[in-house]
Amino acid sequence: MALTFLVNTLLLAIPLGGSVGTLVGIDAHRAATGQKGLFAGDSDSNGGTGSSGGSGGSDSTGGGSGSNNTISDNHTKNSQYCQSSYGITPPTQGEQFTLNPNQWGVTDTTSGWLCMNVTTFNNETYATKTTTPDWSVTWQFDPGPQTQPVHAFPNIQVEDVLPIVLNGVDSIDFDLAYTYGVGKTVATTMDESALTAQSLQANVAVDMFFDSDKETSQNSTAASLEVMVWFARFGASSDPIGYPRRRHQPHGRCELYKGPRTSGSSLYTLTWVATENTASFNGDLYPLIKDLYSMSGSHYPNDTDYMGIFQFGSEAYSSDSNVTFAVSELSIDISKS
Ligand SMILES: *[C@@H]1O[C@H](CO)[C@@H](O)[C@H](O)[C@H]1NC(C)=O
Ligand SMILES: *[C@@H]1O[C@H](CO)[C@@H](O)[C@H](O)[C@H]1NC(C)=O
Ligand SMILES: *[C@@H]1O[C@H](CO)[C@@H](O)[C@H](O)[C@H]1NC(C)=O
Ligand SMILES: *[C@@H]1O[C@H](CO)[C@@H](O)[C@H](O)[C@H]1NC(C)=O
Ligand SMILES: *[C@@H]1O[C@H](CO)[C@@H](O)[C@H](O)[C@H]1NC(C)=O
Ligand SMILES: *[C@@H]1O[C@H](CO)[C@@H](O)[C@H](O)[C@H]1NC(C)=O
Ligand SMILES: *[C@@H]1O[C@H](CO)[C@@H](O)[C@H](O)[C@H]1NC(C)=O
Repeated sequence: MALTFLVNTLLLAIPLGGSVGTLVGIDAHRAATGQKGLFAGDSDSNGGTGSSGGSGGSDSTGGGSGSNNTISDNHTKNSQYCQSSYGITPPTQGEQFTLNPNQWGVTDTTSGWLCMNVTTFNNETYATKTTTPDWSVTWQFDPGPQTQPVHAFPNIQVEDVLPIVLNGVDSIDFDLAYTYGVGKTVATTMDESALTAQSLQANVAVDMFFDSDKETSQNSTAASLEVMVWFARFGASSDPIGYPRRRHQPHGRCELYKGPRTSGSSLYTLTWVATENTASFNGDLYPLIKDLYSMSGSHYPNDTDYMGIFQFGSEAYSSDSNVTFAVSELSIDISKS
């Protein structure tokens, strides 16, 4: 049953290359506030903790003192945030989200930069209650050390609903359209060969954290399980944890990898990786979690576990040129059964 759902879900994914104009989904985006590093100390390739030298803080307006270059009119506001870690929680009449540049892997010796732009609606009313503000991230980083190749995980996080017991989830409806492009402007279509020519190393992913304890599930460094869904993977450096040993590949659209977050750790990461990069997705992600309940072996979730964190973003490893990841459509609807 779960497999059927899974296939249906993934067939809705449109392969990379489709133009944003043709993508399925809901317009507009909502922002929310940022919070601290999502991948903090959690992956074999990440190693470090979320700390970085820059300023933290938060901003509940989506503009104001925390941002440079705020451009407003009577309808929308565009604000730029270049801080390493900063919570942006725009006011909304719908579900609350938090955005964060989250440059947790940036150190004094890092060569590169990253800024996040967020576009909010002054009327606080987006296309649907679960639509996020539009946002984009422009960045360039030289390759980091092999022990810590990831520089940042700019992301948006769900603030409402969580934590929730997994068997209390009915669906996780996820509508997404984005582009990754070379340069500092938003690309209208994705040109994967141009990105490859700039040696882009990055992914585009959902990141969730589970634990049998409700409170621990909200702590990314302590939660026993991290479950990811990768929509795209650029460059060979960004292998999922546990690669190349594939655990499961239902019908060829999506592969599962599993491994300890750091060498010898009892905390594990399970990663579903789309076999083909997808620029747009419209479907239910919950079947990908349900599928894990029936897997044999240790380090798979139990349906009585809690989901404490749900984030979506891009892990930025490195790139030869400036690149822009732009999310033009995003709605995240976690509904209770
Ligand atoms: C905003 O509204 C005011 C009052 O209607 C108008 O004078 C002004 O030109 C508008 N500004 C923009 C940027 O649209
Ligand atoms: C809110 O503002 C946005 C952006 O200007 C606009 O597209 C939308 O129609 C407005 N919604 C309502 C209910 O006024
Ligand atoms: C504003 O811009 C300066 C230089 O461009 C940058 O160093 C600083 O971090 C930015 N501040 C914010 C709040 O983004
Ligand atoms: C982000 O905002 C800055 C400041 O307003 C602007 O110069 C830049 O072009 C924006 N980038 C994108 C990708 O929209
Ligand atoms: C999260 O877990 C880590 C590791 O167990 C711990 O050091 C940290 O204090 C926890 N954070 C919170 C906010 O409880
Ligand atoms: C979850 O754990 C309980 C208690 O160990 C067990 O009875 C149940 O079958 C487990 N559920 C799943 C989906 O593995
Ligand atoms: C990337 O953008 C930065 C900041 O605007 C600029 O200084 C740099 O020259 C750009 N890099 C390339 C390779 O175009």
